[in-house]
Amino acid sequence: MKVTVFGSGYVGLVTGTCLAEVGNEVLCIDIDEQKIAMLKQGEVPIHEPGLDALVQKNIAGKRLGFSTDIAQGIAHGLFQFIAVGTPPDEDGSADLQYVLAVARSIGKNMKDYRIVVNKSTVPVGTADKVKDTIYETLGERGVNLEFDVVSNPEFLKEGAAIEDFMKPDRIIVGADNPRTTELLRILYAPFNRSHDRLVAMDIRSAELTKYAANAMLATKISFMNEMANLAEKLGADIEQVRLGIGADPRIGYHFIYPGCGYGGSCFPKDVKALERIAWEVDYNADLLNAVERVNNQQKQTLFNKIQGHFKGQLAGRTIALWGLAFKPNTDDMREAPSRTLMEALWKSGVRVQAYDPIASKEAQRIYGSRQDLTLCETPEAALEGADALAITTEWNVFRSLDFEGVKTTLKTPVVFDGRNLYDPGLVASQGIVYYSIGRPTVAVRTPADLSADHSRLPDISSL
Ligand code: UDX
Repeated sequence: MKVTVFGSGYVGLVTGTCLAEVGNEVLCIDIDEQKIAMLKQGEVPIHEPGLDALVQKNIAGKRLGFSTDIAQGIAHGLFQFIAVGTPPDEDGSADLQYVLAVARSIGKNMKDYRIVVNKSTVPVGTADKVKDTIYETLGERGVNLEFDVVSNPEFLKEGAAIEDFMKPDRIIVGADNPRTTELLRILYAPFNRSHDRLVAMDIRSAELTKYAANAMLATKISFMNEMANLAEKLGADIEQVRLGIGADPRIGYHFIYPGCGYGGSCFPKDVKALERIAWEVDYNADLLNAVERVNNQQKQTLFNKIQGHFKGQLAGRTIALWGLAFKPNTDDMREAPSRTLMEALWKSGVRVQAYDPIASKEAQRIYGSRQDLTLCETPEAALEGADALAITTEWNVFRSLDFEGVKTTLKTPVVFDGRNLYDPGLVASQGIVYYSIGRPTVAVRTPADLSADHSRLPDISSL
């Protein structure tokens, strides 16, 4: 089938490429000429595992093309996917200007029946606005053509987007007539094999489903972060609590990891947008407001611990920072907890020596060349001459800590871990002061302490 995708950002590119991979003829349209020129050469401007190879393979197979020609895009596809950005306005609501600009272009250029598929995360009621905009522009042309608008939100996780698209756990299709749903069912058939994963519903419910899914996940995280803060005050260990509650299948083990706050392009933006949507219909979304508030506070937690440890004497210090991306396997730093931490440290006169396996270039783009930020080539280099180490992203390379290296390279052996990567007892036994999230800080143990502990073990032969 012929498919056009407007917007060659993260969602558009993954959608277009995966649809081409299963045999469709896909044309991706973007107004950014430089981006399209790169993509035509098979160069992918974002970091997503597996995407480069898939783009190149489908360009070579002549199933995937790129263009800045909007009219060509509208002539090409029966399916017209809208996957352009919906950046937050100042009040937190999603800015629909790019979505509606595509709708206008479709109205201006379409010559026969088209299915307009909304992939962008948009406020409830946007499909109606898209419909009205197309009707209006068709009216201006004095023509009467048939079209349908569908809401088909994406649920892609950065770093696993190809897998998520190829093997979705659900395909949400919001349409106002069964014929359109059936056409989408045919398009998605290659991804809908072992059992029917397509959930058909009305358009507004589909639009809300996307926000509800992200808001629910964000709620789980903020809830766990609140429990972690409580555990710290009560002398309990949130990691034990996590295992204890996750065992209940109604709660589950997924998405209950406490940490230094959620970031990324979706959760912070979508929770805010949903709060705004609620406000507009005169509903006070208390829970959502709290989810956002808890997360904003949580992003400060490492800074507060650092400040507490150094008794407020921060000016002139250097902190080593491991992890810049908002999560592993991406170079995305949107709303990343690392940014909140760095910005708070800089305000207090602290220099940051940061290492990230792939996000350094992105940090350079965001912060330029600052005197108080050094981007290091290795995790070890970041430790050189630093007063302490802070960790904000759980990259696998950080999981096995070289205790000796940390102890001898840092000025003082202190680690602030925002992702609970290590066993507090083990780190303390290596002579390192260790702060993590929601777990008691274990006193540093000397080898003598440890052997004394050992001799205190009961002699089971006498029991
Ligand atoms: C998310 C949704 O998972 C995806 O379905 C949606 O389409 C887009 O938003 P993404 O932003 O790529 O995907 O990242 P995700 O893996 O969900 O993580 C988001 C944030 O939550 C990260 O900062 C992560 O560190 C944090 N997180 C996640 C936690 O703090 N604890 C957890 O248990 C899980």
